[in-house]
Amino acid sequence: MAGFDQSLADKLNSEIHTAEDALRWASENLHPKVGKASSFGAEDSVLMDMMVGINPEFRFFTLDTGRLPQATHDAIDAARRRYKARIEVLFPDAGRVREMVGQKGQNLFYDSVENRKLCCHIRKVEPMNAMLETLDGWITGLRRDQTQARRDATMFQIDAAHGNMLKINPLIDWSWEDVWRYIRENDVPYNSLLDRGYPSIGCEPCTRPVRPGEDIRAGRWWWEQGIKECGLHHGA
Ligand code: ADX
Ligand code: SF4
Repeated sequence: MAGFDQSLADKLNSEIHTAEDALRWASENLHPKVGKASSFGAEDSVLMDMMVGINPEFRFFTLDTGRLPQATHDAIDAARRRYKARIEVLFPDAGRVREMVGQKGQNLFYDSVENRKLCCHIRKVEPMNAMLETLDGWITGLRRDQTQARRDATMFQIDAAHGNMLKINPLIDWSWEDVWRYIRENDVPYNSLLDRGYPSIGCEPCTRPVRPGEDIRAGRWWWEQGIKECGLHHGA
């Protein structure tokens, strides 16, 4: 596993300033031990389009939590057809899910924040950790203006929570408008939930459409107050 030093991230952040250059660097220096984590939101669709243009062999992986909306499964297949991309689908450990729902019920996440975090941990964080252990770098669709916790994130980060691997956020400076400009100009296929009021897409029972004027993440775990993260991203 990687064990990179902060000086590498500092150097890359001072030298590389565009999403394409970040992806080219990842292709030349980390591939095939780098993968794009994709939840098939708008940012992920932009990055897949860019990445297959730079390196058709780039790896993509997505967490099938078992509770995804049908539209996200449709988006995965649409991306496979369009890009012939190498999309690896990761699943939670069946025994862990069986034990959890056996003890706490199918819809445990509505009962308490603790239960919701347990569900995210078993269905998302654990399979993600297992994947990341095999890589030296991962690429995400994080943008700085998505959440307060992501405000200080940079394009290249040392991911201390995952063995000091490199975490690369090529769209970190992009606005929501930048994302949509790219999608339209490049005729990028995207998750149909985006046209139905879901600017941020997660599991079906934990995501609802946002109302006009609401924050783009207001529909995620909408019944909870305060910081709403699932644990995939620590501090950013
Ligand atoms: S979350 O932590 O709140 O769920 P968000 O939906 O904003 O994350 O997505 C940010 C980035 O996290 C995505 O662009 C993607 O890189 C990664 N990610 C989130 N959910 C998944 C998933 N189900 N599978 C793979 N990557 C994901
Ligand atoms: Fe479970 Fe909801 Fe987290 Fe999905 S978003 S893993 S259903 S708590």
